[in-house]
Amino acid sequence: MTPPPESRWVLRYEGFDPAAEALRESLCALGNGRFATRAAAPESRADGVHYPGTYAAGVVDRRVDHAAGRTVANESIVNLPDWQSLTLRIEDGDWLDLGALTVSGYVQELDLRRGVLARRFVVEDPAGRRTRVAQRRLVSMADPLLAALECTVVAENWSGRLTARSGLDGRVTNCGVARYRGLSGQHLLVEESTSGSGLLGLVVRTVQSRLRVGLAARHRVLLDGVEQAPDRRTTDQEGTAAEDLAVDLAPGRVLTVQKVVALCTSRDRAIGEPGEAALQEVRRAPDLDALLARHVRAWAHLWRRCDVEIDGPPRTSLVVRLHVFHLLQTVSAHSVDLDVGIPARGLHGEAYRGHVFWDEVFVLPFLVLRLPAVARAMLLYRWRRLPQARAAARAAGSRGAMYPWQSGSTGREESQTVHLNPRSGRWLPDNSALQRHIGLAVAYNTWRYHEATGDLDFLVDHGAEMILDIAACWADLATYDPVDDRYDICGVMGPDEYHDALPDRAEPGLDDNAYTNVMAAWTLIRALDSVELLPAGRRGELLDGLGIGEQDLQRWEHVSRRLRLCWHADGILSQFRGYEELAEFDWAGYRQRYGDISRLDRILEAEGDSPNRYKLSKQADVLMLFHLLTADEFYAVLDRLGYPHDRTTIPRTVAYYLDRTSHGSTLSRVVHAWVLARSDRAQAWDYFLEALESDVDDVQGGTTGEGIHLGAMAGTLDLLQRGFTGLQTRDDTLGFDPYLPEALTGMRFRLRYRDHPEVEVAITHQTLTVGGGGPGLPLLPLRVRDDAYRVDPRGTLEVRLRRRRAERS
Ligand code: BGC
Repeated sequence: MTPPPESRWVLRYEGFDPAAEALRESLCALGNGRFATRAAAPESRADGVHYPGTYAAGVVDRRVDHAAGRTVANESIVNLPDWQSLTLRIEDGDWLDLGALTVSGYVQELDLRRGVLARRFVVEDPAGRRTRVAQRRLVSMADPLLAALECTVVAENWSGRLTARSGLDGRVTNCGVARYRGLSGQHLLVEESTSGSGLLGLVVRTVQSRLRVGLAARHRVLLDGVEQAPDRRTTDQEGTAAEDLAVDLAPGRVLTVQKVVALCTSRDRAIGEPGEAALQEVRRAPDLDALLARHVRAWAHLWRRCDVEIDGPPRTSLVVRLHVFHLLQTVSAHSVDLDVGIPARGLHGEAYRGHVFWDEVFVLPFLVLRLPAVARAMLLYRWRRLPQARAAARAAGSRGAMYPWQSGSTGREESQTVHLNPRSGRWLPDNSALQRHIGLAVAYNTWRYHEATGDLDFLVDHGAEMILDIAACWADLATYDPVDDRYDICGVMGPDEYHDALPDRAEPGLDDNAYTNVMAAWTLIRALDSVELLPAGRRGELLDGLGIGEQDLQRWEHVSRRLRLCWHADGILSQFRGYEELAEFDWAGYRQRYGDISRLDRILEAEGDSPNRYKLSKQADVLMLFHLLTADEFYAVLDRLGYPHDRTTIPRTVAYYLDRTSHGSTLSRVVHAWVLARSDRAQAWDYFLEALESDVDDVQGGTTGEGIHLGAMAGTLDLLQRGFTGLQTRDDTLGFDPYLPEALTGMRFRLRYRDHPEVEVAITHQTLTVGGGGPGLPLLPLRVRDDAYRVDPRGTLEVRLRRRRAERS
C-alpha cells in the first residue's frame, strides 16, 4: 500500500508505542478554551503508560505539604473525572487491554481542521477472535459545556455478546508529573454519583477551593446504524458512575456506542448548580452527529480567522497549524468570562501546576491581531489581580504593583520556594520569584494591545491603571546612586533562570539586569505616555486614586533617563552587573560528557558546581530585548539613558549571547530565531524549525507529555506573522517589512486591525498583497518598508518588494 500523502491538516501516528503515549496524549489533547482532555485511550486508567487528564480553566485547588523541612503550599490545576472512560469485553472475558492482545492496524489521527481525534485498531484475543475498533472524539468548540466519544466495534470472525462499560470516573488524582508525586495530589471529593434513566451523573468538589464540578453522560447504541435498546446495567463503584451496555454481535455487524458528556463547574456563568446543570445540558444536547457538525462549523470559523498558511514542506505547515490548534484550545472565546490567564503548559497536563507565567508575552501578539476580545480578557485577568500585586509591592517596600512570577487563582505568588533536582535528588532553594520582570511583560502586553487595537476604552478603564502602578513600583525599586547619577535595580533575576546570584554573594538576586532595566525604562516612558493619552477627567481621577503626584511623574521621568546599564569592555551589553567577571564555560567538554546539556543547572548542581559561576544562560535574557523592542525602540531607550551606541551594538550583542545559551527553555529558540530574522535568515529559519519541533518532537525528552509549551508554540506563530514579515502596529499604521527566509516561499493569513476585521495578507519573496474587508470600511493606513499607502478595503493592493541590499551583494 502506498503511504497516504503527507497531510497539512492531520497529525497521524501509526502503531502503539507505550513510551510515546504520554507525548501523544498531550499533542492530541482536545479542548475548547474552557476545558481540555488528554488523548488517553478511553479504556485506560493512570498506569504509568496512560494518563487520562481533564482540566478546566480556573478549576484549581491548593494543598499544603512538608518537603525539605519546609511547609509548601501549591495551587494546582485539578485533574477532573475521566469522562472518556469506556472499555469493552466479549462475553465475560477480560476487559480490553491492548497489552494483552495482538494488536494490528493501530492508527491515531488528529484532524486539526475539524477538531476530531480518531483512533482505529484491530485486536485478536488468544481464542482467535478478531475485533475491529474505531473511535472518534471531540470537545465541542460550539457547545462549550459538551464533549463526545463514539466507539464503533465490528466483530470480524465471532458471534457473541459484547459489553461496553462506559462511565464518569472520579477516582482520579493529580499524579501526571513524576517529580510532584511526593506532594499531595488528591484534590477531589466525590459528592454524588447517579445512574439510571439512561443518564449518568457525577458531582465532585475540590478539597480546599470548594469548587464543584458536575458531569453527566448520555449513551446511544446503534447496530448497523439502527438505534437499539441494549441491556443496561448500572455498575457504579465507589467514585464512579458507570453503566454496562450489552448487545449481541455477529460477524460483520457494526455496533456504535455514542457517548455525549456535559461538564459544568461552579466557575461557569449562568448555569446554576453544576451537577444539575450537567444533567440538564446532556439531556438536551443534540445527538453526536449534530454535535459534531456544529463543532466542525465552529472550527471552520476559527480557521478562517486564525489559519496561517505557509508554502513549504507539508510537515512544517502541519506543525504550524498544530500550534494554532492548541493555542485556540487553551484560550478561546469560551475563556473570556472565566477570569483566567494563559497557562504556560496549556490545559494539557499538570506541569507547572497550570500556573500563569510571563509566557503570555509570546501568546498575546497572535490573539491581539485575531481575537482581540480574548486578548483583552487575558489582560483583565491581570487587572483583577492588581490588589494582590499592590500588596506584594508593599511587602517589598515599594508602592505600585508587583505581579507574581507564577500566578494562579488569586494573583498571589505561586512560585515554589524549593524545587527538586531529579539528577542529584536534592531539594534546593528556588529563587525564581525574583523574576520581577513579569510586571514589565504585563505593562508591555497592555501597551501593545492598545497599539494594535486602538481600544482607548480599555486603556482608560483598566490598562493605564496597570501600566501606572507597574511603573510606580519600578520607580520605587530603583535606588539612586548620587556618585554616578544613576539608578540601580538590585536583587532581581532576569529571564535566564540559571543565574540567581553572584558566585561570591550569599543572598540571592542580581543587580542591574539589562533586560529588566531597559524594560523598566521603556515602561516608565509608556506610563508617562499613558497619562497623556487619558482624557483630563480620568487622568485626574486615576492619578489621584493611585496616589501618584506631579513629583512622582518627575521621578519617573528622571529614572527613565538615568537607569544603569552595565557594559563589557568591548561594548557588549552585560546581562547584569558582574557578568563580565564570570568564567567562560566549557561548552564542548560538557557536550561531549553529557550530550544534552540544556539543563545545565541540574548537571552543575549535581556536580557540586553552580551555573552562577559561568557565562552561560538557560534562555535568551539580554536578547529578549530585541524580541520585544524594535531596533529603533531599543536605540531610543539607549539614547534616553545617555549610553552611546552604533548600529553594530545589537548585532554584536546578539552574536555574543547566541554562543552562550543552552536553550534550557523552549522559549529560547523562538527568541534566537527572532533576533536573527533580519541578519541571518538561514540560521533564523533553522532556529524556527527547531522551535517548531519543540513539542512534536518532545525535544526536552519527556516534558511535553506533562503539558504542551504554549509560549513556544505561539512564539513560532508570531515569528511567522511578525518576525519574518516585520509586521508592526505602531503609529496608527499597519506596517510591514518582509524578509522571508529562503525556505519560506510564501505565506497567507488574515488579521484584524482596528476598524478592519478582515485584512488579508499574502507575502512572497517578491510581493506583499494586502486587501479584503469589503465596502463601508475606512481606508487602511499601510506602510511597506518606508512607503506609506492607504488601502481601499474594497480591493487589494499589491506591493512589489525590492530586493534588499544584503541580498543583492
Ligand atoms: C522558563 C520561563 C517560562 C516558564 C514557563 C521556564 O522554564 O524559564 O521563562 O516562563 O518555563 O513556560
